[in-house]
Amino acid sequence: MIIPGSSSAALSRHLSSELNRDIASVEITRFPDDECYVRLHSEITSDVIIVQNTHPDKNIIELFLLQNAAREAGARHITTVIPYYGYCRQDKKFKQGEPISARKLAQLIQQDSDLVITIDPHKPVLDTFFDIPLLMPSAVPVIAQFFTDKHIDIVLAPDKGALQRAQDTAELLNSSYDYLDKKRLSGDTVIMESKTLDVKDKNVLVIDDIISTGGTMALAIHNLKKQKAKAVYAACSHGLFIGQAVTKIKAAGCTQLISTDTFESSHSHISVASVIAKSLHSYSPKPKPI
Ligand code: R5P
Repeated sequence: MIIPGSSSAALSRHLSSELNRDIASVEITRFPDDECYVRLHSEITSDVIIVQNTHPDKNIIELFLLQNAAREAGARHITTVIPYYGYCRQDKKFKQGEPISARKLAQLIQQDSDLVITIDPHKPVLDTFFDIPLLMPSAVPVIAQFFTDKHIDIVLAPDKGALQRAQDTAELLNSSYDYLDKKRLSGDTVIMESKTLDVKDKNVLVIDDIISTGGTMALAIHNLKKQKAKAVYAACSHGLFIGQAVTKIKAAGCTQLISTDTFESSHSHISVASVIAKSLHSYSPKPKPI
């Protein structure tokens, strides 16, 4: 049985048809003081899948309450699907006095969970923070599939750190790949060194894991349009689209902006349900020591 959190209603429906499992009837409301109330109305099976993001903050508490409600209702095996794992950027203490947010969240999530699945976490080191199995499948195959008929000539990563994702996508699309030189000055300020790329009259796909403020993607597109790219598509796993992100990206000359449904929005044209289902099907738990 699938228990849909309020961040992931559409993805839960897609997952339910991929896995041929029922969706639980769940009541999720807020008290006048904004505290969260959840109640499971369906009879809960012993094996459940809860789907809920850890972003924004209020979804985190909702996730913990759903997990607890499922345990209290008799679930013996809880798979927690966190399509977008918020707080993954803070995977270490960059400065004295900071928390290790990604690890703290992992400790809390696993209290009422037996298996966790999350798509393209910002830092793969996440798996060292869990004592229970964590699966981290990539959205790249479904993103590449979406672009198969767009005749993409080159796939670009907005920075060198994201090159592997561009390379994986390019291999599936049979195109070339490269990266741009991004430097982040602050949370919402990025600069891009000018780099000459072979993009004139070409169809380009810029792929990133997250689009947050849209600054990175807008700069990349601007850069490519300046170099006379024919079409510039923008794709990401997690489209948070904070503030004016979409406006900025469109104004830069984006041909089409696409994200998956890890974070649901009007740009979620690709579902990761098949990615999650495949990951679940191929998962075989390690036998417990006698
Ligand atoms: C950074 O390492 C990430 O991969 C993204 O490039 C970044 O999160 C995008 O942020 P924004 O949309 O705010 O530029």
